[in-house]
Order: sequence, then structure tokens, then C-alpha cells
Amino acid sequence: MEVVIAPADQLARLAADAVEALLRGKPDAVLGLATGSSPLKVYDELVRRHEAGLSFARARAFMLDEYVGLPAEHPERYRNVIEKEIASRVDFEPGAVEGPDGLADDLVAACAAYEAAIADAGGVDLQILGIGTDGHIAFNEPGSSLASRTRIKTLTRQTREDNARFFGGSVDDVPRHCLTQGLATIMSARHLVLLATGKAKAEAVHQLVEGPVSAMWPASVMQLHPHATVLVDDAAASRLQ
Ligand code: F6R
Repeated sequence: MEVVIAPADQLARLAADAVEALLRGKPDAVLGLATGSSPLKVYDELVRRHEAGLSFARARAFMLDEYVGLPAEHPERYRNVIEKEIASRVDFEPGAVEGPDGLADDLVAACAAYEAAIADAGGVDLQILGIGTDGHIAFNEPGSSLASRTRIKTLTRQTREDNARFFGGSVDDVPRHCLTQGLATIMSARHLVLLATGKAKAEAVHQLVEGPVSAMWPASVMQLHPHATVLVDDAAASRLQ
């Protein structure tokens, strides 16, 4: 695992460098996209590079997770968030960005179909990740099986409180359930690039990098990945030895 400690703008450029190098060498690469605040500067940087000539036209992308039950037009539905933050701002082909279907009648079947779609695409080349204050990646909350695949999960109170800021501050408006890629799904990606900034992430980053590999700190499974890059600012790194 490579850990880089730098200011947030530099971290975003480093993550964008990795995406750009991938796309230049493999224009039909498969990207893994996270939502939340952590990757936003990366997406802004990728949009700048797109305006300077970087093309996503042959690339595909898979999202990490989705809330269950948010109406199709809800601005916090992750499909809409990804559309707004990156997909609509670069030249992905229509349909090239996919996410788990949190509105499916049969959620279990939707999870299986999502796993099959990722496999059919040849797997994810580069997965962008954030980390929750409780150590989740995607929505694999503490206690998630390290062998898990895309499935329905219940969000912890902590995650719903953390995400209330996207729902006008109301924790009651944050959905209780989600569909999320599993830890084994994420670990199948060929390169993991995780971004974390701010003091609230310091304990989770410590456990990710220096803790024992444990389902209680799900991101710690990344210690077993052959190509994982952890990009953190000083505050998020403040608990590292
Ligand atoms: C979002 C996701 C989550 C977030 C995490 C951190 O798709 O998978 O794991 O990355 O909750 O969220 P932020 O970046 O908003 O602190």
C-alpha cells in the first residue's frame, strides 16, 4: 500500500494523474466511481483535463453504491449525483456509466445483475474510493464480510448522521438501506485509489493503514490489495505512526 500525504488539491491531481495515465494507455478502460465529497476535486480536475483533450468516449464506469428507494429524480440519488458531478461533464457515451438499481422490484436480482455487468465489462481497472468515519468503503459498514459481493446493506446511524448534510441536515431523510459493491467486489479492481481529508477521517485512516485487517474496520482489507494508493491530507494522516 502506498500512502501519500499532501494538500487536498495535490491529492486530487495525483488521483487524476492515475486516471489520465490509465485512459491514455487504455482508452476503453473501466473506471470505478465513488460519490460523496471526497472525490469531488478529482472530478473537477478530470473535467479540466477533458477540456484539454482527455477523452472518456470509449471508457465505461461503475458506481460503488446506491441508496434504496430514493425517487428517480431525487438529487441525492447517487446516479443523479454522478451524472451531475462527472458523467455529464465529460464525453462518456450514453449508458456507459452504470450503478446498482436501488429502485428495482427485486433488489437481490439487481445486485446479482450488477456483479455480472462488472464481470462482463472485464472488471474495474481503477477504483476511486472515499472512506467513512466508521471505516466503511462503498457502504460496507463495520462487520461486513471481507468476502462480500454486491448486496443490500443497512446503513449505520453514524453513516446516516454523516450524510445528513446532503439531506438538508435531517438524518430522518437519509435512507436506511443501500445497495453496495461488496469488499471482495472492490478488491477485484486492479488499482484502488482512496482519498481522505479532514480530521474526522483520522481514526479510519489509521485503522485502514496500520490496524489489523478486520471486518470491524472494513477499509483495512485494502492492506491485502497488491496495488492500493491512499491519498490523505495532514489532518486525515494525523493518527498515523
Ligand atoms: C460513496 C461511498 C462512501 C463514501 C464515504 C465517504 O459512494 O461509497 O463510502 O466514499 O461515505 O464520504 P465523503 O467523501 O462524503 O466523506
